[in-house]
Amino acid sequence: MCPECIGRAGDNGFLRFRLRAAIEERAKAARMSAPGTPPATLDAEMKAYYAARAPEYDDWYLRRGRYSRGPVRDLAWHNELDEVTEWLDRQPLSGQIVELAAGTGWWSPLLAQKGELSLYDANSEPLEFARQRLVAHDLRAHLHVRDAWEAPDRQVDAVFCGFWLSHVTRDRIDAFFDIVRRWLVEGGVFAFIDSRPDPESSAVDHPPVADDVSVRRLADGREFRVPKVFYSGNELAASLRRAGFTTVDLAETARFFVMGTAHT
Ligand SMILES: C[S@@+](CC[C@H](N)C(=O)[O-])C[C@H]1O[C@@H](n2cnc3c(N)ncnc32)[C@H](O)[C@@H]1O
Repeated sequence: MCPECIGRAGDNGFLRFRLRAAIEERAKAARMSAPGTPPATLDAEMKAYYAARAPEYDDWYLRRGRYSRGPVRDLAWHNELDEVTEWLDRQPLSGQIVELAAGTGWWSPLLAQKGELSLYDANSEPLEFARQRLVAHDLRAHLHVRDAWEAPDRQVDAVFCGFWLSHVTRDRIDAFFDIVRRWLVEGGVFAFIDSRPDPESSAVDHPPVADDVSVRRLADGREFRVPKVFYSGNELAASLRRAGFTTVDLAETARFFVMGTAHT
């Protein structure tokens, strides 16, 4: 179908309307074409999404606006968020700590109290919120724009990633864990927190994740696609071991979160 087809519909208003709608649908499908989309394109779209989402990112944690399911249902989320926060606080992270894809720095004050924290993100927009958060807690850290895929420039005692592994596509997860291992000194620890699939985790107007791609909307209606892979614990453990990690400990909360540590 093409605009010429509309011409062929002649004066039939109904047919013209149907054809126009079909052309719009097809253009939208082409824009959103998940299968066969080169990862580089999705990665660029994800980066743009998180830059634009920075001012509203914490609404997800706080269950504000489109992320709320009402006070009763939100309580389950808040309880599990407390649980995972306590889990992270219990981890013996110390010395030099690197936080990759740190975003608005939700976890950064906790980490900055455990060691000398360097937090990196590919976008400056969320890092500005992280900076304000650390200042509010009277904490210090090194904040820099840096891609999580960049080769390490030193070795540190601990690496942390929050809600980043699920944005790493299946064909790249081994390569990412290899980078994490190269960040770490012998005996270093990698800790992470990520999402379990739950229909109430995302915003009310986000369609379910399909084919490891999530369609996200911002409050102003702009739409983006991001890779979103719900790795099973077994998949993560196997990939971590392939990258050379020895002990791998995984845990999860009842619905929303998976978390783990791995040692070099
Ligand atoms: C789901 S957010 C997680 C933020 C934070 N870690 C947390 O737990 O709240 C993903 C973050 O990854 C960042 N990001 C996207 N692509 C990146 C890349 N290639 N390297 C580093 N950060 C990236 C985004 O800017 C965003 O802040």
